[in-house]
Amino acid sequence: MTTLLYGRPPVVFDPPGDATQTSPLIPDSAALEAQDPGSADTVMTYAPPGVLERRYVLALALRALKVGGRLDVMAPKDKGGSRLGKELKAFGVEVAETAKAHHRRCIVFKPETAEGLDAAIDAAIAAGGPQFVPGLEAWSQPGIFAWDRIDAGSALLAEHLPPMKGEGVDLGCGYGALSIVALRSPAVTKLKLVDLDRRAIRAARENVTDERAKVWWSDARTLEAKGDKDFVVSNPPFHDGGAEDRRLGQAFIRKAAELLKKGGVAWVVANRHLPYEAELNAAFKRVRLVAEAGGYKLFEAVK
Ligand SMILES: C[S@@+](CC[C@H](N)C(=O)[O-])C[C@H]1O[C@@H](n2cnc3c(N)ncnc32)[C@H](O)[C@@H]1O
Repeated sequence: MTTLLYGRPPVVFDPPGDATQTSPLIPDSAALEAQDPGSADTVMTYAPPGVLERRYVLALALRALKVGGRLDVMAPKDKGGSRLGKELKAFGVEVAETAKAHHRRCIVFKPETAEGLDAAIDAAIAAGGPQFVPGLEAWSQPGIFAWDRIDAGSALLAEHLPPMKGEGVDLGCGYGALSIVALRSPAVTKLKLVDLDRRAIRAARENVTDERAKVWWSDARTLEAKGDKDFVVSNPPFHDGGAEDRRLGQAFIRKAAELLKKGGVAWVVANRHLPYEAELNAAFKRVRLVAEAGGYKLFEAVK
């Protein structure tokens, strides 16, 4: 019996304890992309919020299922849940839909044949898969942070970053935008790129081929830190408002300080409304507000 799980559904949906996790946001999980077509009995999916990303995951889940296999997918109503039923029907399958705990839940049994199913699966996989983004001139994928544009905060950091030297870390590297800038300095000897998102890691490996760079799929919060790095660049993850997300950014700042040697420097950009000053002042010897623009502030912090 092959049971796959994508993401972490709330406990009210009774997620299977013995399933194979396939979320790209959980380091060391399996890849839904790598599952043999027609091999899974059940797939439970906590659907992601982005449309292309969600349709991609639904398509991969439908492809992985055997005929008669069960897709059980849910999402918060205001984060794609209200569109789930329609999106699944667009694959040509029958959908049973219910509402629970501010979520919509859809159940699909994979049919033996359905008009257009294979073509719809292929189209959604192509639209949501890894791709070279013209204009960005980089490999990326829907679901990666700011996947098809340069984030304004990252642009502010890139604009002000002086040439770095020695060994550094790009904490939360995404598809590699800040690493590409940091590596322009010939005085950089090594750069470690770290991100929680496997899709970002895959893209960063395509985009940053410089042999000084190493790309790691890992949670920054549990990254081993020896206090031997010369610099860190980071645009820490955030989401509007939530206390949990502030803690994530604050953890990034503490990790940046742990990674650095005395005199090492962190370049950190953040949304203006995020309260990072106290964390920066506590972890670093000297903190300088370098620039403030477009709703972002950029700090240079010396350990
Ligand atoms: C604001 S984005 C910046 C991305 C990239 N540096 C850029 O400039 O485009 C923050 C990044 O942190 C990653 N991230 C979120 N939580 C993380 C964690 N616990 N450990 C490592 N990376 C994480 C996200 O996947 C995202 O790529």
